[in-house]
Amino acid sequence: MGWKAGVVTAGTLPLNLRWEQLAWLGAVMVGLGLGHVVLSRGTHLAHVVHISLVALYLTPVVASALWAGLRGGVLSSVLVTAAFSIHVRLAWLGQAVELPQWWSFVAIFWVVGVVGGVMVDLQKAERARALARERDTERRNVLEAMASLAAALGSHDPYTRSHGERVAQVAAALGAELHMGAEQLEILRLAGLVHDIGKLGVPDDILLKPGELSVAERTSVQRHPETAATILQPLRGAAKVAEVVLSHHECPDGSGYPRGLRNSEIPVEAQLLRVADVFCSLIDTRPYKAALPPSTVLSMMEFMAGPKLNEVGFHALETLVRRGELPPPNWGK
Ligand SMILES: [Fe+2]
Repeated sequence: MGWKAGVVTAGTLPLNLRWEQLAWLGAVMVGLGLGHVVLSRGTHLAHVVHISLVALYLTPVVASALWAGLRGGVLSSVLVTAAFSIHVRLAWLGQAVELPQWWSFVAIFWVVGVVGGVMVDLQKAERARALARERDTERRNVLEAMASLAAALGSHDPYTRSHGERVAQVAAALGAELHMGAEQLEILRLAGLVHDIGKLGVPDDILLKPGELSVAERTSVQRHPETAATILQPLRGAAKVAEVVLSHHECPDGSGYPRGLRNSEIPVEAQLLRVADVFCSLIDTRPYKAALPPSTVLSMMEFMAGPKLNEVGFHALETLVRRGELPPPNWGK
């Protein structure tokens, strides 16, 4: 519920009223009130008008029930009962109040408030369940798509696939260490699994080259985050994973690629993914480098922490290494 550019909004309910409409509603209420005073002369017609106008008390009850469900219906029924009681007392000043009539109107207010509120709450709950089912299906589709992509990557380059699996584990462990929520941890796992999927677009002779890469070859390799994003973005529900993968080579000082993002411009999941990626890459044996022990890798990464790596993520990594809670390196593959 909220106020937006002169429009009263009530969640997903169709209660959008413009200021002009509210002014008209107010004018009608004032007109009815004046008519009520003018006609209050004890005639038969006045009695009929009185009974009809009592129905106006239902307006706030119905509106509140639609707006806030059972809570709104009950609260407005309490307030309307109080206002109606004062009204009746004043109208019957000096005379005995017709209690059965009072009770019947109050009962109507409460029935409308409670039943209307319960119906609105049930409708909202059904909508929430439908949304949850839709999200669940979307999530399963994304998981299956990621598993297929990881399998495709594995058939092209088994190391990159196993590297992705370990990066996913380390990134999720870092996220858990930093108390991230379940949704962020899942993004870290999925993004870790397919972060190098863009390497499908890098020729094997470059990807598996034992020696140093030329400038052109390096440029070709550095295109892999964008290639990955191009593969992932069309997948429904994978937009965040695509954004994280696109940013996993960005550095806090802006020297990374492909967009040269800085600090908070880089999604926090991508920053943790980079910490995990650098750690797993340094610790593993590769055609162009020997494996390194975790202590040596941490010393090397300490120099990168700040400008090149997220510092908080690095300290979380130190903690995990100290506690021996990381998956074993890929030595000798
Ligand atoms: Fe990468």
